[in-house]
Amino acid sequence: MRYYVEPDRSPNFDLRDGYKDRFIKRDDSVKEKLDHMLRWILANRSKLSARGTTASSCDLDIDFVTWRGHLTKLLTAPYETREGWQLAVTRFRGTLYISEVETEAARRDQENRTERHEEMMYWGYKFEQYTCADTVHGQPDPGGVLNTNEAFCTVVQTRLADHRLLFSGEVDCRDKDPNAPAAPACYIELKTSAEICTPKQRSNFHRFKLLKWWAQSFLPGVPRVVAGFRDEEGVVVAMETFPISKISHLIKNEHNCWKPTVCMNFCSDFLSFVKHIATEDNPSVVYLLSWEPRRDVTFSVHRDSPYCFLPHWFVEEMTSSQPSHQS
Ligand code: A3P
Ligand code: MG
Repeated sequence: MRYYVEPDRSPNFDLRDGYKDRFIKRDDSVKEKLDHMLRWILANRSKLSARGTTASSCDLDIDFVTWRGHLTKLLTAPYETREGWQLAVTRFRGTLYISEVETEAARRDQENRTERHEEMMYWGYKFEQYTCADTVHGQPDPGGVLNTNEAFCTVVQTRLADHRLLFSGEVDCRDKDPNAPAAPACYIELKTSAEICTPKQRSNFHRFKLLKWWAQSFLPGVPRVVAGFRDEEGVVVAMETFPISKISHLIKNEHNCWKPTVCMNFCSDFLSFVKHIATEDNPSVVYLLSWEPRRDVTFSVHRDSPYCFLPHWFVEEMTSSQPSHQS
């Protein structure tokens, strides 16, 4: 976990620096599905198991296991006009596991990215390198190599309506003040965005960017986003902090704007629908749920198919052994 080091108000960070010669890029064709979370679950099983009931004492006390990013897509779906998604769901020992399946359109987009787009994806990570130190008293090292294989992920257990969720998501950094509150209240999300020069740009920022930022941070309880506004050349010209709890007030004056309750209701209704349809408890059955903008969710059922995503090592460990209860 890295520590946030506050820069000047207009820091002039050059986000293009190092793209050609100090960048190790994660291979995003490798799909890890839920594997990291499943390993975490096995290692922490005793904390998650239902207590008090003998019959189900080895089952998890959780309705859904997934990545934070999948929940972000569910939260923003009511306002999404471009990109659809597909989610694979398996019910196993009473818990529903949700893992994303790449859509054809997303695969095509990824293959056809322009060089400019590839470089701009680097800018967000470069901003993190300018603003984060590896140690609590350290300084950022923007001259170092940037490696996007490295990340810190938090695991969160929370509720949305009557759904008990367990999900993991990347956290960019934390407040370095020793008196900062405990996690997740000390966590900080870092973002870059195009500088805002016109009222139209401000309105678009409120309507689209702040929706994404809110949806990403609200469920894990990350309380603030620190944003670097950059020009067309990738130079950060201004900084601003957005407390997540204030975002809904900021957007109130926008005509026809997004509403947090609409997002939460869609997500909660979707999860209720999944509980309703994914009834067969079987690690080799996948319910594939598909959604396209302005359409209803559809689903199909697949047995012993390439969509299966719960690995044998997880199924076997969960089936064969009891967790050792620690007090
Ligand atoms: P920005 O957040 O400044 O856009 P995250 O913000 O979720 O921590 O992600 C860090 C950075 O990864 C992003 O910085 C962006 O540069 C890159 N990134 C992540 N997802 C992306 C996507 N779907 N398309 C383009 N860039 C992405
Ligand atoms: Mg970020």
